Amino acid sequence: MTRELHPDRPLVAGNWKMNGTPASARVLVAELVSRLADRPPAEVLILPPFTALEAVGAFLGGDPRVRLGAQNCHWEPKGAFTGEISAPMLESLCDYVLVGHSERRHLLGESDEVVRRKLGAVLEAGLLPILAVGETGAEREGGLTAEVVERQTRAGLEGLSPSQVALCTIAYEPVWAIGTGATATPEDATTAAELIHRVVAEMAGSAVVVRVLYGGSVTAANAASLVRARGVMGALVGGASLKAEEFAAIVAAAG
Ligand code: 13P
Repeated sequence: MTRELHPDRPLVAGNWKMNGTPASARVLVAELVSRLADRPPAEVLILPPFTALEAVGAFLGGDPRVRLGAQNCHWEPKGAFTGEISAPMLESLCDYVLVGHSERRHLLGESDEVVRRKLGAVLEAGLLPILAVGETGAEREGGLTAEVVERQTRAGLEGLSPSQVALCTIAYEPVWAIGTGATATPEDATTAAELIHRVVAEMAGSAVVVRVLYGGSVTAANAASLVRARGVMGALVGGASLKAEEFAAIVAAAG
C-alpha cells in the first residue's frame, strides 16, 4: 500500500531523537495536539523513539493532523541483526522513516551506501522515506558544501525509479547547525534546496518534485524565515520539537 503524500504542502517534522518513555511521549503529544489549530497550515509529523511509536499512535487514534515516523531502520527486512528494527516491522506503526540523519552518519558510521540501502528498504515496505543530507562544519569551511550535499543526495536516490523518487522527502541539515543554536541563513537553505531540486530533476526528470526541508536549530523565533525559504517546504526540528508550545508555534509559522 502506498501512503498519501502531499508534496505541495509544507511538512513540519519533529525528531525527538533518544528522548522519552512511552508515558512521557503520550504527555508530550497530548500537549502538542491541544495546541494545534483544527487545520494546521502544514502537515505535522513526529518521530518518537521506536519504543514510543505504539503509545503515541494509540493516543492519536487516527487524528489526521499528526502523522508518525521512525528515526531509522535496518536495510534488511528480518534476520540475525540483534537490536535492530526493520522497515516491515514499522509498517503498521508509522508512515515515514528518516534515513541518513547526520548523527547516524557521523556518530554511528553510516556510509552513503548504508543510507541508500535503508532508503530502498523503506520504499520496499511501502513507507515514505525522509533522506537527511548535509555538510559538517569542516566541509563547509573547506568549500565542500555543494559537493557533499550533491553526493549524499545522489547516493541516497541511486537506482530508484522516478515514481520512487517522488515518494521521497529530502532534509537539508547542515551538521554544524544541529543542536548548536547556529542556523543556516535562509539564503544558505535556498542554495542547498535548489541544488537538491536540480539533482532530483537530473535523476528522475523535471516532472518529479520532492519536498526539501531545512533542519538545524529551528525555533519558533526563526521558523518563519527558514521553513518557507525559497525552495524549502518545511522543517525537520530537533530540540524545539520536545517543547509542545514551541513546536506548535513552528507549525503555525509554516503557513
Ligand atoms: P536541532 O533542531 O536540535 O538543531 O536538531 C535538528 C535535527 O537534527 C533534526 O533532525
